[in-house]
Amino acid sequence: MTTPAAVLVDAAAYAVAVQTATKAAAAYYATGESALDDDAYDRVVRGIAAYEAAHPDEISADSPSGKVAGGAVVGDVPHTAPMLSLDNVFGGEEFTTWAASVERRIGRPVERWSVEPKLDGLAVAARYESGRLARLITRGDGLAGEDVSHAIGMIAGLPDRLAEPVTLEVRGEVLMTTEQFEQANTLRTSHGGTPFANPRSAAAGSVRAKDRPYQVEMTFFAYAALPLGPAASGDDLAASLTELPHSDVLTLVAGLGVHTTATTTVPPRTVTDAEAVRVRVEEIGALRAELPFGIDGIVVKADAAADQLAAGSGSRAPRWAIAWKLPAVEKVTRLLDVEWNVGRTGTIAPRAVLEPVEIDGSTVTYATLHNPNDITRRDLRIGDHVMVYKAGDIIPRVEAPVAHLRTGDEKAVVFPETCPQCGSDIDTSEQRWRCVRGRDCHVVASISYAAGRDQFDIEGLGATRVVQLVDSGLVADIGDLFTLTREQILGLDRMGETSTDNLLAAIERAKGQPLSRVLAALGVRGTGRSMSRRIARHFGTMELLCAADAQAMQRVDGIGGEKAPSIVSELAELADLVEKLRAAGVNMTEPGATPPSDDPTPTEDGEPAADAGPLDGMTVVVTGAMTGPLEKLSRNEMNELIERAGGKSSSGVSKRTSLLVAGDNAGSKRQKAEQLGTRVVTPDEFAELIASLLTDDGGGGDNGGAAEADR
Ligand code: IVH
Repeated sequence: MTTPAAVLVDAAAYAVAVQTATKAAAAYYATGESALDDDAYDRVVRGIAAYEAAHPDEISADSPSGKVAGGAVVGDVPHTAPMLSLDNVFGGEEFTTWAASVERRIGRPVERWSVEPKLDGLAVAARYESGRLARLITRGDGLAGEDVSHAIGMIAGLPDRLAEPVTLEVRGEVLMTTEQFEQANTLRTSHGGTPFANPRSAAAGSVRAKDRPYQVEMTFFAYAALPLGPAASGDDLAASLTELPHSDVLTLVAGLGVHTTATTTVPPRTVTDAEAVRVRVEEIGALRAELPFGIDGIVVKADAAADQLAAGSGSRAPRWAIAWKLPAVEKVTRLLDVEWNVGRTGTIAPRAVLEPVEIDGSTVTYATLHNPNDITRRDLRIGDHVMVYKAGDIIPRVEAPVAHLRTGDEKAVVFPETCPQCGSDIDTSEQRWRCVRGRDCHVVASISYAAGRDQFDIEGLGATRVVQLVDSGLVADIGDLFTLTREQILGLDRMGETSTDNLLAAIERAKGQPLSRVLAALGVRGTGRSMSRRIARHFGTMELLCAADAQAMQRVDGIGGEKAPSIVSELAELADLVEKLRAAGVNMTEPGATPPSDDPTPTEDGEPAADAGPLDGMTVVVTGAMTGPLEKLSRNEMNELIERAGGKSSSGVSKRTSLLVAGDNAGSKRQKAEQLGTRVVTPDEFAELIASLLTDDGGGGDNGGAAEADR
């Protein structure tokens, strides 16, 4: 679908549009952030172009038309060859017309098209001298960029040293994967900074930033390479770059150790006609939501060097390549209200209520607003037009208000003065506000969570029942659940003998849950299910865990210097509750874990050796729907099983993955595993592999499956 151009009725509207577009381009190229979403920017630029076509003598010198980077000028390191931009098409028809124009120009059919994802990050040129990474430069205005060599070392996929001592320039995109983006935001907010608005601006800001007290990781994907200066004698490899087809250049670069999209689920493919291009574009588009990084389109390039040469380049963009744009993942909508929700640990978080907007294939009605300070810093007002970002797994987030669309009727956001849940005071001393009663504030939420399937797994204890127990004064924390008597439960409304006995039996079973689940049930901030398992395996017993200081806590894989002290202090806060659980007979050990001792026998990864299991040393990923004996298992239960069998569970397929369990409707993870040559098994084959850990009933029993084996 082509974005309609803005209609500029007169010279004044034209002048405003030129100013809006220039400002947006300058902001975008300076910080990666802009108050205009891609669609809106394209609309304005097309409107400007249409006005200029009709009024050629009124063209302003400031006009972004035909200029690289919309006229924004940044940086002073000259590029060896201009770093061009790309022209856009928005659909199949437009593409076919464009492809026909290329073929007319070169006077023959294009030999092959290379089709590859358009990575949504920031373009950089990496100069390698004799195989060593010497300099990193941003695109800037395409002719000269900024030296950002200080970012070397923070970018995965851009090695310090190549496999061969060649002198060349690799060009590509620096971006943040979803995971890197979440990590960067955690780090940034813990240093009191505003969260990054989206992965693109996070990467753009981080590449430029100097002297930050923290370092974030980014990822590089190469999409081109060229010789750098006169090729040294014997440097045939660099010299060949201008003659090789584009697809061979990418293979060569990957062979030198630089990251390309070849290892992703959307590798570059070459095809021979426009119809095959369309099919591949659709395939990549369909995988977009599952990708661990953002793409904003698909780039189609004439692959053969001779075709590229014959088509030539304009001052802004090559004539042999085009960006086939996908719908934007940033949209402007209205902020209708701000809600304040109290989490189970007492954190009070604002949430934006939006005029529903369709983004990346789903309707977005709510978006995160991080913390109260952030609302003030961004000067958000109710009624504002706001830019909202959502891509793949990333939780929708409000980026910024579009200030120039304000009417004056916008209203200030009202901040709560007391806890919206219980009316107590609010502790505002940290970025994240918290009810002074902490986890006692929202007892119903924390007890319901603790009773959930992946924690204590107490069947029959839904939220309504928890409300009843709390309201009747029988339960004030999770510890009280384990001392409930038959009479007390029978005394509740709508509670018969059978349901009472079933609930009591479920509570009794819950006492045998492993330490990892007890820990997850406690809801220590910053430790989800998988971190709870890692902690439990590391310490083995609650006693050793509670005795750990920050230094000891940091020995757990994945716990850094920032997290360790907060886990330690929170566990100290929970000491009474832990004691209550212990006194009630709740298990406090992790089966199969070997607690750390003064003289541990470390395994390769530094963890003390545990008994060898059938998945010893293997990294296993599960995807698709489980069937057969594993049918009823949640993802968490599958991960528990993998870890109990000696393996490591992981959510993404990579070179390190040893085994993929692919159930029904397995999507891109299966494709990726196949490309990497990773072993893929069905759920049935996997069940056989770990048969020794499954119960007699095959783990698919009524109340939770294989994870029951240890109870
Ligand atoms: S080729 C002369 N390939 O998109 C060819 N660019 O909007 C120019 N981009 O400046 C670039 N993924 O920063 C190319 N696979 C890809 C790309 C890609 C992202 C960026 C690049 C470029 C911008 C143009």
